[in-house]
Amino acid sequence: MIIAGIVAGGTGSRMGREDLPKQFFELAVKPVFIYTAEKFLKYADVVLIGMNPEWIDYADELLKKFFHDREKIFLVRGGSDRNETVRNIISFAHDSLNCSDDDIILTHDAVRPFVSDEIIYESISRIKECDICTAAIPATDTIVVSADGKTASSFPNRSEMFLVQTPQTFRIGDFERIYNSLSDDEKKIATDVCRLFKSRGKKVLLIKGSPENIKLTYPYDYQTAKIIAECMV
Ligand code: CTP
Repeated sequence: MIIAGIVAGGTGSRMGREDLPKQFFELAVKPVFIYTAEKFLKYADVVLIGMNPEWIDYADELLKKFFHDREKIFLVRGGSDRNETVRNIISFAHDSLNCSDDDIILTHDAVRPFVSDEIIYESISRIKECDICTAAIPATDTIVVSADGKTASSFPNRSEMFLVQTPQTFRIGDFERIYNSLSDDEKKIATDVCRLFKSRGKKVLLIKGSPENIKLTYPYDYQTAKIIAECMV
C-alpha cells in the first residue's frame, strides 16, 4: 500500500497570523492544504492528514467542500512536533487501516502545495534503492556554518550542499523502530526524519526536488505562492 502522510499539525507562528494556521490560507481558488492533498490523491491508496486537534473540525468541513469522494482521505490528530505528527499518522495507518511494516509512506509538508507529479512518481519508484528518499535541490547561495550565529565557523563546499524538501519516503516499520529507540534528547534535536534515519546508519537517497516546491514559512512565501497559484488557474 502507498500512504500519503501530509503533516499539517503546526500553527505557523513564523507566518505571524494567530487567527489561522498557514495550511488554511487561500491560494487562488482553494486553501493551501487542499492543493497538497489533491496532488497525492492521484498516486496514494490513502491520504492521511495530521492536523492540530483544534482545527480538525474546520479541516473536515473544507474537505467536504472540495472533495466529493472522500473515501481515501482521513484526518489524524497531529502531535506536539513534526515527528510526532508523523508518528501519529503511522500509528493510525497500522491500527485503523491494518497497514503492514513494509508499506510505503510519502510524508509531505501540507504547506508545500506545488510538489510536482514527477517528484511524487520518482519518490515512489526509487524507494526500492534505499531506506528513505527525500526531495532536495542544490544550494544556490553559499552556506556558512556559524555556531554562535554571529561569526563564521566554516564554509562548506557549495557543490556538496543541498536543501532538503519533502516528500520524504520510507517504510512505516522502519520509522516506528527508529522512533521508539530515540531518547527524549534525541527527539528534541532530530527535527527531520531523514536525519533520524541517517543517525541509525540507514541509506538516505536524494531525489531531484524543484525550486517551485516551496514551503510557506514567512509572509513573503505566501505572497509568492499566491502568484504561482494564480498563474496555474
Ligand atoms: N507540523 C506538524 N506538526 C507539528 C508541527 C509542524 O505536522 N506539531 C507541520 C506543519 O503543519 C508544516 C510542516 O510540519 O506543514 C513544516 O513545518 P513548519 O513550516 O515549521 O510549520 P509550523 O510549525 O506550522 O510553522 P512555525 O514553525 O512557523 O510555527
